[in-house]
Amino acid sequence: MTNIALAIIGGTGLYKLADLQDVETHQPVTRYGAPSGPIRIGTLAGKRVAFLARHGEGHSVPPHKVNYRANLAALQALGATRVLALNTVGGITERFGPRVLACPDQIIDYTWGRISTICEEEGTEVLHVDFGDPYTPSLRKTVVAAASRAGVALVDGGCYGATQGPRLETKAEIARMRRDGCDLVGMTGMPEAGLARELGLEYACLAIVANWAAGAGPDSDEVITLDDVLANVAAASAGLPALIGEVLSGQG
Ligand code: HPA
Repeated sequence: MTNIALAIIGGTGLYKLADLQDVETHQPVTRYGAPSGPIRIGTLAGKRVAFLARHGEGHSVPPHKVNYRANLAALQALGATRVLALNTVGGITERFGPRVLACPDQIIDYTWGRISTICEEEGTEVLHVDFGDPYTPSLRKTVVAAASRAGVALVDGGCYGATQGPRLETKAEIARMRRDGCDLVGMTGMPEAGLARELGLEYACLAIVANWAAGAGPDSDEVITLDDVLANVAAASAGLPALIGEVLSGQG
C-alpha cells in the first residue's frame, strides 16, 4: 500500500491529470468488482496522487452504471484516505453559470436503482452513517482555502442535486429542483458521496459548471450540446492544476 496524499476522481471531460509524473498504473479488483478503469498513481506538486476517470478513460460508463463502490474501495485499497471528486454539472441558480467552479456543501439525491450502500450483501452489518454534512467539512475548507491561495474563483457552498441521467432534465424537473433548493445538477454526485462516508473516506466535490440546466439560463430555450459542455469544462478547468497544487501543498 502506498501513501496517497489525495485521490482524484475525474468526471465528464476530465479523463487524465496532465501534470502527473512517474505514473504507475494499477488495476485492482475489489470485493465489489472492478473500478471504471485503471488507477494512475504518480507525483504531483511533490505528493503522491491517485487519479481515476469515473466514466472510464474512454467515457464509456454511463452514470447509472458506474461501479461507485468498486471505484472508492479500489482507491482506498491503494492507500487513499481523502477523495476530491470532480463533477461536471449544470447550473440552476444565479451564481452557478457556465464555467463556474463550486465546492458544494449539500446534496439532494434524486437517483434511483443504484447500489447506494456497502451494506447491500447479506450478513454485512447495517450502517446508519451521519450524513447531515455530506461532504467532509475539513476537506471542503482545504479546497476553498487552496482556491483562494491559487487565485482561482470558486463558489463556496451550494446544493448539488443528483439525477439519474443519462438524459438531461426537463425544464419542469429543473424548476422543481430549484424549488427544492438545488443550485447544481449532476448525475454522479450520488451514491458516491454516501459510499465515501460509509467507507470512512474524507470526500469533497469540486463541481465544474458546464451549462445552464434546462430552462435555467437567460435563454430558457437554449439547447444543451455536448460540444458546449466539453468546451466549458475545458475552459473552467484551466485553474484546476494550480488549485490542486495548493490543496496538496497543505498536506503532509
Ligand atoms: N444536468 C445533469 N447533469 C449535467 C448537466 C445537466 O444539465 N450538465 C452536465 N452534467
